[in-house]
Amino acid sequence: MSDSYRAVVTTGHRRFELVERERRDPGPGEVRVAVEACGICHTDALAVEGPRPAPIVPGHEIIGVIEAAGPGAGASWRPGDRVGIGFLGGPDTTCEACRWGDFLNCADQPLIGTTVDGGYAEVVYARATGLVRIPPGVETVNDAPLLCAGLTMYSGLLSGRARPGSLVAVQGIGGLGHLGIQYARALGHRVAAIGRGTAKKELAAELGADEYIDGTAEDPGEALQRLGGASVVIATAAAGAAMSALVSGLARRGELIVVGADPEPLEVRPAQLIFGGHSVRGSLTGTAAENEENLRFALRHAVRSYNEVFPLSEAAKAYQRMISGEVRFRAVLDMRG
Ligand SMILES: NC(=O)c1ccc[n+]([C@@H]2O[C@H](COP(=O)([O-])OP(=O)(O)OC[C@H]3O[C@@H](n4cnc5c(N)ncnc54)[C@H](OP(=O)(O)O)[C@@H]3O)[C@@H](O)[C@H]2O)c1
Ligand SMILES: [Zn+2]
Repeated sequence: MSDSYRAVVTTGHRRFELVERERRDPGPGEVRVAVEACGICHTDALAVEGPRPAPIVPGHEIIGVIEAAGPGAGASWRPGDRVGIGFLGGPDTTCEACRWGDFLNCADQPLIGTTVDGGYAEVVYARATGLVRIPPGVETVNDAPLLCAGLTMYSGLLSGRARPGSLVAVQGIGGLGHLGIQYARALGHRVAAIGRGTAKKELAAELGADEYIDGTAEDPGEALQRLGGASVVIATAAAGAAMSALVSGLARRGELIVVGADPEPLEVRPAQLIFGGHSVRGSLTGTAAENEENLRFALRHAVRSYNEVFPLSEAAKAYQRMISGEVRFRAVLDMRG
């Protein structure tokens, strides 16, 4: 094994540089992981477009193999173990700062690829408490996006009030959304996909959507009401204004679960919430333990990510395809490519 490894660091707004780094021994409670694949999530924009100061290595949909375990990390983890790493790099807690929305300064929870270096690299250092054990059957490159995109959909949908058979709508058919349709279907829901235009209509049906709503051709709230109203709408598009139209599509006591992050505000009329008994809430990815459950669920129900695969040296191109909305549906970096 060579002492050096390649990593892609951000050097400014949408600028990347491929650098060589030296391997070091992992610190206390830490492991060194040879990254095999890393998905490119829209949340990588936090690292690539600010507000984090460059340079940082983005990427938090990682599958790899432990190369070395630091002091205190080796009780349950050994070199050779196959592991996953998602967005939350630590235990199931966040600090006081997070409660006020200042998650970039969380003292307890390293955010992989955002506040600490992530997986656009051949090697990543991670806390043992944030590692996900990869069940047999999970494929390295194909399944890397399940570590964040998949988990976010799985935990968001499971935390919702929808029962099997009830109408669940997935807004935004990108990395998260195309998996969300499959998870919702696997959970036994009747699924409506909400996209922009008709280009993804057929694919939505292939993924398991029973209904397709083109949000540019009709009001998605009215369209959902025609279908009887949604028990849950899970909104993945990074578009606050577009989410506002979804509250009117909820069934009585329905929930709008917000997972797409957008600085634009979401507008809701209080009377809508009161008379419909509706709620609007956010959902943040999930813990390492939930991720293990998520991977087993995805395997059992053949949930799979549709990926475009790139070598590490083409990380900038892969990111550009994601951020411009061209990728179908997830870009994944294959370190072995
Ligand atoms: N809550 C969490 O824990 C969590 C975890 C992961 C990601 N996220 C966030 O979730 C969002 C989505 O991430 P992603 O990786 O899935 O992004 P992505 O792959 O870029 O997909 C976003 C999709 O939203 C669609 N879209 C945009 N505006 C829309 C609108 N007005 N109506 C319907 N669809 C619209 C786009 O499709 P078209 O351009 O084809 O219309 C695009 O495919 C990001 O904001 C990301 O930061 C949150
Ligand atoms: Zn993510």
